[in-house]
Amino acid sequence: MVELIPHEKFEGVYWIKDEEKVLATRNLVPGVQVYGEKLYRIRGEEYRSWIPYRSKLAAAIMKGMENMFIKPGSRVLYLGTATGTTSSHVSDIIGERGVLYGVEFAARVMIQFKRNVSDKRMNVTPIFGDARKPEAYAPIVGEVDVIYCDVAQPEQAKLFSDNARLMLRSGGHGYLAVKARSIDSVQEPEVIYKREVEVLEKNGLKPIEVISLEPYERDHVMVVLEYR
Ligand SMILES: C[S@@+](CC[C@H](N)C(=O)[O-])C[C@H]1O[C@@H](n2cnc3c(N)ncnc32)[C@H](O)[C@@H]1O
Repeated sequence: MVELIPHEKFEGVYWIKDEEKVLATRNLVPGVQVYGEKLYRIRGEEYRSWIPYRSKLAAAIMKGMENMFIKPGSRVLYLGTATGTTSSHVSDIIGERGVLYGVEFAARVMIQFKRNVSDKRMNVTPIFGDARKPEAYAPIVGEVDVIYCDVAQPEQAKLFSDNARLMLRSGGHGYLAVKARSIDSVQEPEVIYKREVEVLEKNGLKPIEVISLEPYERDHVMVVLEYR
């Protein structure tokens, strides 16, 4: 029998015990898959498996992340949605009362994100824009509780800080997926990481947790931030 167990700490996140134990969220759009994830019907509700090899946030949870600030009702700015794998699960978690603004600058990817995610989910607003230019979309977004950033680009810390300054509420939180080698392929990952953290701290963003995403994502960490 398939068993549903609420996550021990995180509201809106579940474990499903089938042949194995998998992470899951409750599907806001029953019957709709986003990236080939498995759907489960349990006690009249539908759940979607959340695959840690496909989503860095799921990987961080699997690796024992302590701090989850994305919860029902949260306002989230998501930088680098791609086709919407992770953001669709964030949309499930924040539910009808929450809002997710998804920023993506690759046109083809944005078309797929719209078709698969934002056209079907009332709590998701797509923003076809460049996360390095937050002043273009800040007036639409307003203030958010959480910024999630996974753009795999150089100067992520600066980009994150610029978005935080315009839109993150004081006392709000951030998630920054850092792929050291995409920032600078010459320098050692350790040096690059330290440099990024210095930029964040200068901008009032304090790392409260750093989680290695191995073996789900090689050379990646998730940095959880608090905004002063
Ligand atoms: C690693 S993928 C994101 C995966 C996604 N977060 C997920 O877990 O489902 C990075 C994405 O960021 C986008 N991106 C990179 N730089 C960007 C920028 N400056 N503004 C907006 N999107 C950007 C890329 O086009 C790509 O789709």
